[in-house]
Amino acid sequence: MTERLTAAQLDRAASLLRDGALVAFPTETVYGLGGDATSDRAVAAIFAAKDRPQFNPLIVHVENLAAAEPLAVCDERARTLARRFWPGPLSLVLKRSEHCPVSSLASAGLDTLALRAPAHPLAQTLLRAAGRPLAAPSANRSGHVSPTTADHVLAELDGRIAAVLDGGPCRVGIESTVLDLSAERPALLRPGGVTREQLEAALGPLADAGDASAPRSPGMTERHYAPARPLRLAATAVADDEALLAFGPPLRGAAATINLSPSRDLGEAAANLFAALRALDQPRFKAIAVMPIPETGLGAAINDRLRRAARGRAN
Ligand code: TXA
Ligand code: MG
Repeated sequence: MTERLTAAQLDRAASLLRDGALVAFPTETVYGLGGDATSDRAVAAIFAAKDRPQFNPLIVHVENLAAAEPLAVCDERARTLARRFWPGPLSLVLKRSEHCPVSSLASAGLDTLALRAPAHPLAQTLLRAAGRPLAAPSANRSGHVSPTTADHVLAELDGRIAAVLDGGPCRVGIESTVLDLSAERPALLRPGGVTREQLEAALGPLADAGDASAPRSPGMTERHYAPARPLRLAATAVADDEALLAFGPPLRGAAATINLSPSRDLGEAAANLFAALRALDQPRFKAIAVMPIPETGLGAAINDRLRRAARGRAN
């Protein structure tokens, strides 16, 4: 049985982590499946609990830039971005430092490390109390939708991890942006909570993960974010045996509807996305029809997750 801990029991969460056990914790994006990043055993246990392929590296969470510096080579670009966006939903892929104490399993054998300082106050307090960097992929089984509540975590991982620290629903609701700074040209490996527009304002034009010159993120080649029901994107009509994921004024005629944001607010839509996908993923619906969502700002990350979910179970 996995313990459900309240904020008042944070010390227990920290002591479990120091002992090498796995504890899921809230971040502002999604819940992370945390373990001591400096322990090979704890990091290996994270892969096992998620059924995650070992070639897919983990994000390592730190309190702030000062805690990141000993782990990786932080150049001026990294420092500028960390000062601007940390704590917050931005993961930076950097070269591991020469004596990096983080388990090489977390890097999946690469010479790089993805680092991020989460903005959730419980995550910050937990990192301080644990006194070490925490490896934490999203706290779902590999290939499933990321969890934005402690209930979602338990639905996926009950009995597989020691505890979940319950901090209520996640504010951003979509995972961090992954930006590769290990090469000369910064590359956007995964759109997320910090938008391309925000990053380009700070750094200039970014390469995309698909560009020939750009590095690839191992995780992006995987089947991801998949509900069991097929997803039908950019729907302009809906059938009476379909569920509708609406954005703005909803189409009529669906068997059930969840509106991501009646007022077409992309931040609100991102915060609601994963809980809505879970709620509509029911056998009584033939498919989930999704209304069009603009590709700007957070819309890029929302559409990225929806496209992956739509490809989902086909392979
Ligand atoms: O918001 C988030 O990023 C959440 C919370 C818990 O922080 N974490 C998260 O982790 O989404 P995960 O493991 O589900 O996704 C991490 C992504 C994967 O696509 C992985 O391949 C990529 O980051 N990644 C991690 N380390 C990398 C590295 N060294 N090089 C390239 N990509 C890396
Ligand atoms: Mg994930």
